[in-house]
Amino acid sequence: MDKILVHGGRRLAGTVRISGSKNSALPILAAALLTKETCVISRVPDLSDIHYMLTILSELGCEVERASGVVTIKAENVDTEAPYDIVRKMRASVCILGPLLGREKEATVSLPGGCIIGDRPIDLHLRGFEALGAAVRVQAGNVKVLAPELRGSIINLRGKFGSTVLGTDNVMMAAVLADGTTVIDGAAEEPEVVDLANFLIAMGAKIEGAGTRRIIIEGVKELHGAEHEVIPDRIEAGTFLVAAAICGDGVTLIRVEPKHLLAVTEPLAQAGFDIESGREKITIRPGATRRALKLDAHPYPGFPTDMQAQMCALLATTDGISVVTDNVFPQRFMHVAELKRMGANIELQGPTAIIHGVEKLGGAPVMASDLRASAALVLAGLHADGITEVNRVYHIDRGYESIDEKLNALGAEIERVKV
Ligand code: UD1
Repeated sequence: MDKILVHGGRRLAGTVRISGSKNSALPILAAALLTKETCVISRVPDLSDIHYMLTILSELGCEVERASGVVTIKAENVDTEAPYDIVRKMRASVCILGPLLGREKEATVSLPGGCIIGDRPIDLHLRGFEALGAAVRVQAGNVKVLAPELRGSIINLRGKFGSTVLGTDNVMMAAVLADGTTVIDGAAEEPEVVDLANFLIAMGAKIEGAGTRRIIIEGVKELHGAEHEVIPDRIEAGTFLVAAAICGDGVTLIRVEPKHLLAVTEPLAQAGFDIESGREKITIRPGATRRALKLDAHPYPGFPTDMQAQMCALLATTDGISVVTDNVFPQRFMHVAELKRMGANIELQGPTAIIHGVEKLGGAPVMASDLRASAALVLAGLHADGITEVNRVYHIDRGYESIDEKLNALGAEIERVKV
């Protein structure tokens, strides 16, 4: 198991190229199950979560080829039961349910187990499948969905924490091959949902309203092969913006979509950083002052829960009192205990972190608990005195393509050590 050693105190400057979006690529790869024809998906990031998804697709019987970011999938004949050993490694495997149900009218996957960022149910996905006419059975740790036929329906996917991203993806992927019209109300508006809808449309699906709260899908008889390029990863981009805010002297992100990042760049500007956005690029420079922030994570277009931990790392050394609330995953604060071990002054009150900025953090051995929390610890280490040792690095490799190499190219000093 690798660990990362961050030597604190280096300044970042220069240009970093952002990878394709993990959260877009995962359901898009799964959507290739909807056709017997070949799909070619480009700008697929090289990450362990992507590797798990490609393994699942191979195990289901797809022919999968991958060459420098381009994945070719041909799903001529497919099994409908995903192997537990791989599915259990990644919660997003659940997004094979929708396309398998759409195409084969049945699918079985292991129920996602308890997750470190809180209880992550799939009740809304299942509610959507039931509305399309599927029966749902939970047996021996598996969930099986089965429908003699799928019929279009009106479905509300809003849950108590707002909309569901993969739930919207899943129901949309099943509904494209249903009989008649499906209306998804309370749909997730995330750019990743729009990206999936664009791929489905390229495959011949009829979808309107992706990116709004109401998506309308007119079922078609079959889909065909298509080519698609995945959108830039707004969370990777946001993470580099925060790294540059913590210890940068001017960093430019290229191949980004600035309008997907407004909920991150606006608070950074409010905190005093100088942000300049152009076509496919964003530059961040230190401003004259730095201010504490009040941030509330909400579904898109709100401030993303996936940036909450990294922002806590920045605010930990920002003078004043910052208040950060996570309304999407209220228990997602595992990074707080680790930041406190580095000297941060943070108090947790339910879904809210109250952060009293300190001047400096100190390096310490810390434990990564989930993907974004581990990124936050690396970022905190960039500005800490001494060495921060981040253990359980596999979390970070799930979602960041060569984060250590990219940060080092900007001037950081990060070592990856095999243990
Ligand atoms: C996706 C992202 C993840 C991000 C999250 C929220 C992928 C692969 N992952 O996860 O990085 O943090 O969106 O932006 O795209 N919920 C229910 N019932 C359900 C489904 C969800 O109650 O059936 C709740 C969740 O517990 C959570 C909230 O709804 O509180 C949002 O979750 P959801 O949008 O579904 O997250 P994911 O799609 O799994």
